[in-house]
Amino acid sequence: MSTTFQLDTATSRANPTPAPMKRLTVPAIQRRKFEGKTQEPLVMLTAYTARQAQLLDPHCDMLLVGDSLGQVIYGLPSTLPVTLDMMIAHGAAVVRGSYHSVVIVDMPFGSYEASPQQAFASASRVMAETGCAAVKLEGGTAMAETIAFLAARGIPVMAHIGLTPQAVNALGGYAARGRSQEEHEKIIADGHAIAKAGAFAVVVEGVIEPIAVALTESIDIPTIGIGASARCDGQVLVTEDMLGMFERVPRFVKRYGDIAGMISETAAKYAGEVRARAFPGPEQTYQPKP
Ligand code: KIV
Repeated sequence: MSTTFQLDTATSRANPTPAPMKRLTVPAIQRRKFEGKTQEPLVMLTAYTARQAQLLDPHCDMLLVGDSLGQVIYGLPSTLPVTLDMMIAHGAAVVRGSYHSVVIVDMPFGSYEASPQQAFASASRVMAETGCAAVKLEGGTAMAETIAFLAARGIPVMAHIGLTPQAVNALGGYAARGRSQEEHEKIIADGHAIAKAGAFAVVVEGVIEPIAVALTESIDIPTIGIGASARCDGQVLVTEDMLGMFERVPRFVKRYGDIAGMISETAAKYAGEVRARAFPGPEQTYQPKP
């Protein structure tokens, strides 16, 4: 039998290589919120490749293989064209590159909305073929039945409410949500519905801060904010946004680096040396043995 993922020594004796760190679990993440409070906020970043996962893993509690890979990696206009096969290929790479974080893989648009049975068929493929610990899906009250169905069958689910990018056509864009009283109440109701259905955590994206705070204070599962509030139980950002890979980023992103500038400068240096015949030098070339 072949596996696409490396065996975790925490759960298997079959792999003789000791894991450098013990992997966190979904229940351990959930337990970080105790009596309605999270002492130390949960840290989540997106990861799409094995090497990126290796670098981020020691610093994170959770790595999210987000369907944002459609825009970030594939240059697609939205997350809508992302397929289950794409998510599985990148999910398996991130599991192979990590030892410590809980890896969560996004369910792409069209792979889970039709019925709980469709969601189970897709989610079980994701879990079996990547080795991830949980899946994430977008939607609140409308997805509660599906979340309960998956949770009851051993599939931990992270929900995603507020600004849900897969619904960009219905929402009319990526603006912050919850400015009307009706929408405010709907997002709060969504949060309560998915928590009751058995989601282990929820991403709260692009909502006005009072909604994020009210939800965090009124549900038992951790809220992971993005464009929400520092008072959420944790935070997530798209790693490339945080690293400064793109010039144009949403208002809620903080650029902690200038990776785009670094790549550009380094490529210019290489190009200059190639054109000047300064690369490869004696250290990078092979000569006949004396
Ligand atoms: O796809 C993604 O990267 C996400 C995060 C932005 C939460 O869903």
